Amino acid sequence: MCGIVGYIGAKNCVPILIEGLKRLEYRGYDSAGLGLINSDHCEVIKNKGKVAELEKLVHQKNIQSSLGIGHTRWATHGEPSVINAHPHVNKEKTLFLIHNGIIENYLSLKKGLEVEGYQFVSETDTEVLAHLIDHYLKLKNSLFHAVRYALNEVEGTYGIAVIYNGEKDKIVVAKKGSPLVIGIGENENYIASDVTALIAYTKQVVYLEDGEIAEITANSFKTKTILDEDIIKEINQVEVGIDDITKGGYPHFMLKEIMDQPGSIFNSMRGRLVFDEGISKLGGLQGFEERILNSRRIIISACGTSWHAGLVGEYMLEQYTGIPTEVDYASEFRYRNPIITKDDTVIFISQSGETADTLAALKEAKKKGALCLGVCNVVGSSIARESHAGVYIHAGPEIGVASTKAFTAQLVVFSLITLLIARSKSLSLQQGQEIICEMQNLTKKIETILKQNEIIEKIAEQYVDSKNFLYLGRGYNFPVALEGALKLKEISYIHAEGYPAAEMKHGPIALIDDNMPVVFIATKDYTYDKVVSNIQEVRARKGRILAIISEDDDQIEKMVDHVIRVPQTHSMLMPILTVIPLQLLAYHIAVKKGLNVDQPRNLAKSVTVE
Ligand code: AGP
Ligand code: GLU
Repeated sequence: MCGIVGYIGAKNCVPILIEGLKRLEYRGYDSAGLGLINSDHCEVIKNKGKVAELEKLVHQKNIQSSLGIGHTRWATHGEPSVINAHPHVNKEKTLFLIHNGIIENYLSLKKGLEVEGYQFVSETDTEVLAHLIDHYLKLKNSLFHAVRYALNEVEGTYGIAVIYNGEKDKIVVAKKGSPLVIGIGENENYIASDVTALIAYTKQVVYLEDGEIAEITANSFKTKTILDEDIIKEINQVEVGIDDITKGGYPHFMLKEIMDQPGSIFNSMRGRLVFDEGISKLGGLQGFEERILNSRRIIISACGTSWHAGLVGEYMLEQYTGIPTEVDYASEFRYRNPIITKDDTVIFISQSGETADTLAALKEAKKKGALCLGVCNVVGSSIARESHAGVYIHAGPEIGVASTKAFTAQLVVFSLITLLIARSKSLSLQQGQEIICEMQNLTKKIETILKQNEIIEKIAEQYVDSKNFLYLGRGYNFPVALEGALKLKEISYIHAEGYPAAEMKHGPIALIDDNMPVVFIATKDYTYDKVVSNIQEVRARKGRILAIISEDDDQIEKMVDHVIRVPQTHSMLMPILTVIPLQLLAYHIAVKKGLNVDQPRNLAKSVTVE
């Protein structure tokens, strides 16, 4: 989850590292640190809290260096504190190491090292790696081989970067299960856990694969596997620009990303719709169409918001393709020995493409012979690379920890996949064209919802002090209820639950009184009349109701406290519209509570640990 950045070259790396850490801060933000090695001295500077705190400390010290590494942490082992912050060091304070991941066998490694006389100061798993590498350095190995030998003893996941005062001309990095990229500059090179930290300096990157290790100098890089096999890596061109990763005048990334949605969903369908044939064209699935069409079953596996998108995908695929589809939490899927055959297609959805549970589920399904498709946002991410084929959602970088534009782009991609399969089955040309027309109109319809931002902000004011929320929807709007509740709880810390509206009477109705706000997603589709009855049931018990309704609805407004109107569209596309007021509602409630919406407590953007 953490952010890693490093630099080697002729410049002073301190501002580069601080800037890189700020860009990576969405990955983890409980403490941060720098490790710097100069011709005459080496130093570690660490601080608890945000990168801005570290920056102040660094300014006071006024240090310069042309070799350095930086880390922003999301604690797994040991509380956020200065001692547990990275870099971790050897006893002589000549070797600095930063780590993203978990060293699972750290206790047994620690015991062995303690027998040798090594002393530990932190509670982290990471510190064993610093001492283990030190142990191999003392056996007269080069830094590169010392790191390699150490990693051969490690179980778990890591993206690491190591620098050593005895070899000031290099950074050694390695990866297993956590992302790591090398940025290629001119007479200078960079490393980072993702490209957002690098694109201000270079667009040329090399993605390390699991089990690979690299030695990077100012002018070169060499890569091997940790078993010492040579490998040749290709250099990739990054397409993300600096504008994509700044707030663009908005107070928060989350608001910018909500407002981005007309453009982001346009990008996710651009060049992929063929109106004349009523079909979609997905280059990333080319060559795999037959196998997908003949799947006995489709399984969708993901976590969090991406899992909610998967639920909508399930409804779409079952309704239009006739292929039995199920959705599984990646974390459950990977451990319950699921029955998977080579006739199954498993779709893994992940904004980051790095979520540890989803990646592990993918490896499991691959082992069992299924066709594995990745639906990712981050180009070149681990899930995208590990899948047999896939579709990028092209939402652009999503920095706010609460996922917004990735969700709607994921739904667009599910619509495209549904079209592709369904047209080869029973969906008629006319039905296909109707869906395409509606997809093409989504951009305008989203704009009309976003224009209601101020109205939604006013409504939010009325709910700031609520302690609990219930979100209810049916059919395609049920996953939207789950997503609305997740958005609210993750950024406003208000307890919220999403339920299928009809399930309310089987338990949650007991919670309803005049203190309980209930958000209904009640647009016009085949479930409308039933949802209206559910609204009446809440009303009869004096619950406060906010309803997301169709723009021409003239019934519901009379029954509820507040309404937000959304344009009508094809029922399978409705979640792309109905989720947007819920994103804005959560955003405004959290802002009014004075909370940090982009970096909510305890969370991290990419969950790269189990
Ligand atoms: C979304 O708002 C959350 N922060 C979280 O649930 C997220 O969707 C989940 O961790 C999955 O991430 P991924 O899409 O990058 O795999
Ligand atoms: N497991 C390490 C720690 O707790 C690394 C966590 C991270 O990825 O930030 O310090």
